[in-house]
Amino acid sequence: MVENLSFVLNWKMGKSYSDTIFWLSENRLNLLNLARKTGHEFVLCPSFESLESVVKTLEETGIKIGAQDCSSYNLGAYTGEVSAVSLKEVGCDYCIIGHSERRHIFGQTSLDVAKKAKLLFENNIMPIICVGETEDEKKDGLTFEVISQQLDPIMEIIAIDKIGKDKIKTLVIAYEPVWAIGTGNVPDLAYLNKIVTWLEAYFSVSAPGLKTKILYGGSIDPETVKRVSQARAISGFLVGRASLDFQTIEKIVLSI
Ligand code: PGA
Repeated sequence: MVENLSFVLNWKMGKSYSDTIFWLSENRLNLLNLARKTGHEFVLCPSFESLESVVKTLEETGIKIGAQDCSSYNLGAYTGEVSAVSLKEVGCDYCIIGHSERRHIFGQTSLDVAKKAKLLFENNIMPIICVGETEDEKKDGLTFEVISQQLDPIMEIIAIDKIGKDKIKTLVIAYEPVWAIGTGNVPDLAYLNKIVTWLEAYFSVSAPGLKTKILYGGSIDPETVKRVSQARAISGFLVGRASLDFQTIEKIVLSI
């Protein structure tokens, strides 16, 4: 068994508030047992309105809580936005940013994502920074160019503003090829290894000395995870649809 993996359970808008409360009443203990038995880290990411209840229900259990996004602004007249400060006050440990659904459906730019990263680091919330290419970009051989464009503004903001190494303990990157999300397709091992090697080289130049963790996300299920987990230097998985059901999560975790 591979040890010390992170499983980020990205529920997206897959559960309403009452679905979330019900899921926890059924599965809280199961999740704790799975975490204890395996020693893996679990990060549950429900939608905003459920965060506070989920934090309270999972207090002192070691299960981490993540938001699915945050504002690129700190405070002010930004209707519908949720600040990093609020997320910290509610008790979030993590926040997913730059998810392809935010980029492609809601038009978020890489500069927005960089501003979010900065605010999250400043508020001691660990950003989970999603990057990845579309199918067309892959076909056109633009994968590395696209990932660079997604990461460069973050590295600049982190460097220019000198947030400080004490705030940035680890950089968590989720490689999520857009063509793999919700499609049932996952990259083959050679492709994934190439991406991981490229990311390592990128960070060794742009953030030397900084600890990085690379997660993979996109169509993880009990079958695909066996293949994908053979890639080198993958520290965990961002799981979307398959994370809505506890039995499926358990199968994924135990099949590695
Ligand atoms: P999926 O989603 O597992 O349903 O493909 C992953 C994600 O979007 O984070």
